Amino acid sequence: MTPEINGDRLLARLEALATIGRNRSGELTRLALSDEDTRARSQVMQWLEEAGARVWIDRIGNIHGASSGENAQPAVCTGSHIDTVINAGALDGSYGVLAGIELLQTLHEQGLKPATSIEVIVFSNEEGVRFTPDLLGSRVMVKDVSLSEALAVESRTGEQFGSELKRSGSTGDVDPWQHLPGSFVELHIEQGPLLEATNNQIGIVEGVQGHSWWQVEVQGQANHAGTTPMHLRRDAGQAAMRLAQNLSEHASRQSVPAVATVGTLSLVPGAINVVPGQARFTVDFRDASADVLRQADIRLHQEARQLEDDGFRVDLRSISRAEPVFFSADIVAAISNAANARTLRTLRMISGASHDAQMISRICPTAMIFVPSVGGISHHPAEATNAADLIMGAQILADVVWALAN
Ligand code: GLV
Ligand code: MN
Ligand code: MN
Ligand code: MN
Repeated sequence: MTPEINGDRLLARLEALATIGRNRSGELTRLALSDEDTRARSQVMQWLEEAGARVWIDRIGNIHGASSGENAQPAVCTGSHIDTVINAGALDGSYGVLAGIELLQTLHEQGLKPATSIEVIVFSNEEGVRFTPDLLGSRVMVKDVSLSEALAVESRTGEQFGSELKRSGSTGDVDPWQHLPGSFVELHIEQGPLLEATNNQIGIVEGVQGHSWWQVEVQGQANHAGTTPMHLRRDAGQAAMRLAQNLSEHASRQSVPAVATVGTLSLVPGAINVVPGQARFTVDFRDASADVLRQADIRLHQEARQLEDDGFRVDLRSISRAEPVFFSADIVAAISNAANARTLRTLRMISGASHDAQMISRICPTAMIFVPSVGGISHHPAEATNAADLIMGAQILADVVWALAN
């Protein structure tokens, strides 16, 4: 018998969690280990307890909640994250976490015990906005980044990840790699337009494109904006904008899904009447092919050398990288079977966004389930998915996890 989840409870909890970190203008921001994230973490731990789970926190702050099975096999795991970007939507990450908790609570209520344990993992600092790199909790779990390196990561304002973990009471004493998943299924909103455009209900995610993130600093010469003739300037702002434009054109000439984004830019000293002496910005490249991603990195270095030939000093620092991954055919088949059993319309796809599943796929069979995003909008307050799609996606997650655990 497959557990049938309580869709209304899931929707109510999504709404409740979205009030944590939402300001009066309706903007939701829960940066990793901020006070808002800390409150959300407590709320989620309380729900895990209510779901009868055995709850613990590991040393990088990942929250675990498990429903024990009959055997001693490594757990069938699901989960996602509850930290957000700035001015975020309510579903990115939270949906997968709350759907996992809903499954545990359903099992608890109905007195169903799986053969293999089922565990929900709430990964810390998935987004990587306050603390970079992203996917920090899952990177430490799979030893992509060491625990000590991760604890030493600093925010732009100088706070340390490890100190913030302590401050927020989020440190546990279990090594993140002590209980590794036997398999992993992550449920997430698509965050893009494909499912809606093709009128499909479930995305069967076969892989995640890779990303390469850079911090760039261009040093020119600050000077008086009124007196310095155009041909004598070393304007770091203009140089940065030229570089950004060239990277964006380069990405546009590649085939989909290649993308390049300059998402932050600050000019120093930052005054209306001063030629900028320094520009600091970030670059986010993504592609499903490791080769194309490498080409983007090479292009960035070529552009930097060009600026140096023009008299600027350019500093490039790689701040996050994840290679493209392809998920387990077995888990993909399990998702496909579950969706077929409920006669849903499905689409096989590659994820454009990054997810903890791409790290976890290094250590166990993994795949993801997507539900449609209205208008393909995400990382924005307008992020939405129809209630029926949210409930159906969570039910498919329950079906898949239950099947894998029995
Ligand atoms: C975060 O969601 C990312 O994909 O960067
Ligand atoms: Mn996410
Ligand atoms: Mn996100
Ligand atoms: Mn993400």
